[in-house]
Amino acid sequence: MADTDLFSPLTLRDLEIPNRIAVSPMCQYSCDTDGLPTEWHRVHLGSRAVGGAGIVMTEATAVEPRGRITPHDLGIWTDEQASALEPTTEFIRDQGSVPAIQLAHAGHKASKRKPWEGNDPIAPEEGGWEVLSPSPEAYPPFGGERPEMRKATVDDIQDVVDAYRAAAERSLSAGFEIAEVHAAHGYLLHEFLSPVTNQREDDYGGSFENRTRFVREVTAAVREVWPDDKPVFVRISGTDWLDDEPESWDVEQSARLAADLAEIGADLIDVSSGGLHPDQDATGGPNFQVPLAERVGEGGDIAVGAVGGITEPEQADALVRNDRADLVLVGREFLRDPYFGLRAADELAGEEAPAEWPIQYRRAVR
Ligand SMILES: Cc1cc2nc3c(=O)[nH]c(=O)nc-3n(C[C@H](O)[C@H](O)[C@H](O)COP(=O)(O)O)c2cc1C
Repeated sequence: MADTDLFSPLTLRDLEIPNRIAVSPMCQYSCDTDGLPTEWHRVHLGSRAVGGAGIVMTEATAVEPRGRITPHDLGIWTDEQASALEPTTEFIRDQGSVPAIQLAHAGHKASKRKPWEGNDPIAPEEGGWEVLSPSPEAYPPFGGERPEMRKATVDDIQDVVDAYRAAAERSLSAGFEIAEVHAAHGYLLHEFLSPVTNQREDDYGGSFENRTRFVREVTAAVREVWPDDKPVFVRISGTDWLDDEPESWDVEQSARLAADLAEIGADLIDVSSGGLHPDQDATGGPNFQVPLAERVGEGGDIAVGAVGGITEPEQADALVRNDRADLVLVGREFLRDPYFGLRAADELAGEEAPAEWPIQYRRAVR
């Protein structure tokens, strides 16, 4: 078998990930209203494990009911939800892939309709719920304060930290091998990081140290229960893309945060961007977030994942070969082609491909 950089294993703590391709977390909005996985989740995630991804990560999985974006999000706030995910993690592992879970809280972006039903807030009388934010007064540019928005008290913050810890324990019992803390895209933890949405004057607002306190506490809580031999990831938005704002979240703060998170036991920073503010000035396009990942990786002794606009095997291979990222997360290309991993192996190494198609499919391929 030929060696390619994309198909070199990545070892984080004692976990060997067979290659550098991960399925990026992607909401499917396919639960009923109980946060339990359906057959959709098993088939969707399972297909990408069959398709050669080194890591298959779940969608944003809510650590408490209030933290769901929509009533149809996956959840891990009950033991029943954890047990229901077990067959999926087992199937992913059986394909030689590593099951990962993204642990999430949607903050003020919670209680919405599914994207294909308009994405609007759901009023309490229609089954919506109270949503948390650091500073409701900061939200006029988002269409105003929602009536059901609640300024998170210190007790609320501690409840969320506890919910993350319990969710991590359940994730472990469900068979996941990587836990990723979702601190990106304008959801609760990112709202605390950014001075645009965090205008608090208590221990969770103001200075860099205060704004990052919540994500550090959550990461430490997850690390506390996640075994020493297994890695913890944190997804951040490397920047708010609001460079004209005198104060926003930017890549220099992200690099500093990465160093702090490394010290409390995070192993990889998954570097996305934006999602916080409607006026964000992001370019998009191939590799558009890679420079952010590179800068964040320089911040501390920690691995980084690149994501966004990565669609070609050679493009992904070059990111690893040129030390621009340790892991390549692929989102939409995996929706177009669940077998992206196997196709990448074939394209990069032909007959010598370092990943094998399932034996059941051999009459169609090699
Ligand atoms: C349908 C869909 C759902 C998504 N859901 C999540 C999510 O649950 N958590 C998250 O961190 N990012 C989510 N994202 C962002 C992707 O993980 C990824 O970062 C983004 O699509 C850019 O990568 P790509 O260009 O390879 O698609 C979602 C993207 C899509 C297209």
